[in-house]
Amino acid sequence: QKQNQSHSQNNSQEPIEGQNSNQVVRHKRSPKDFIFGKVIGEGSFSTVYLAKDIHTNKEYAIKVCEKRHIIKERKTQYVKREKEVLNMLANAKHYFVRLFCTFQDVERLYFVLSYAKNGELLPHITKNGSFDIECTKFYSAEILRGLEYLHGLGIIHRDLKPENILLDDKMHALITDFGSAKILGEPDQTDSSSQDHRETSTRTQRRNSFVGTAQYVSPELLSNKISSPASDLWAFGCIIYQMVAGLPPFRSRSEYQIFQKILQVDYEVPDGFCEVARNLVGLLLVREPSQRLGANDKQSIGYTSIRAHPFFNGIDFEKLPEQTPPPIC
Ligand code: ADE
Repeated sequence: QKQNQSHSQNNSQEPIEGQNSNQVVRHKRSPKDFIFGKVIGEGSFSTVYLAKDIHTNKEYAIKVCEKRHIIKERKTQYVKREKEVLNMLANAKHYFVRLFCTFQDVERLYFVLSYAKNGELLPHITKNGSFDIECTKFYSAEILRGLEYLHGLGIIHRDLKPENILLDDKMHALITDFGSAKILGEPDQTDSSSQDHRETSTRTQRRNSFVGTAQYVSPELLSNKISSPASDLWAFGCIIYQMVAGLPPFRSRSEYQIFQKILQVDYEVPDGFCEVARNLVGLLLVREPSQRLGANDKQSIGYTSIRAHPFFNGIDFEKLPEQTPPPIC
């Protein structure tokens, strides 16, 4: 019987077999250990299935990537990055989708992830039209806690948006999709310039070929392709705006026009938009990354200046996971 080596990547919670009392030996899982159900997510390089562990009956979201497609589209570094980041987040108890284990067969790679029963945040905003301030406050606070943890580890998400915030069975927010993430201090292999041997500039940061989703992308990514944790704070500002107003701040028919608006920080605040939320959004949607609220906070202690904004009055950031989220309305 094939048994895992001690360096196995299997993070599964479920011991399958024990050799003796202090050594839990686990099988490397395979697709045969799960019953695959409906498709619950689709990306350009993956399909996510709802799946049930046949041994435990537990539900998981399994992200399946076709190797041939990834190689053809030259996305291997993105898949590796996603696994690396998910492993870095494996100890986080809250705010992130968890990676339980990975395995592969000849054609595909499998990521066994926590199943967020209530799906993406986006359809909840759309269905409801917008969120009231209680609800916006709560989800903004949970996303902020996630960003504090992520940035504390030196990870920039780079594609934060309401589609990448999932809601678990208890309606708590889980950040997902780390395929576009950047780990600070690591050479960025998803970066086109890293393969460009002519590049000898004295820039301290590499320029990345990567640009996130149009509506949430920051001006610095559009103008000089340099991202920092503050680029996620920009996206965070866009998401707060969207929860309050129902639509993202920078909208237009063409991507080009959206980019022009972003570069000019050209957005309008509709009548009735909560004044304190408007103030916070205005402090996050600032063209110069270093001038955004939180950009100069010490990463090791979290976004103290954002937490201290009056918008978050009444939020106990340490108690979010134990709280019952306010109903969406
Ligand atoms: N869609 C994509 N990933 C998902 C997950 N982990 N849970 C639920 N829906 C998803």
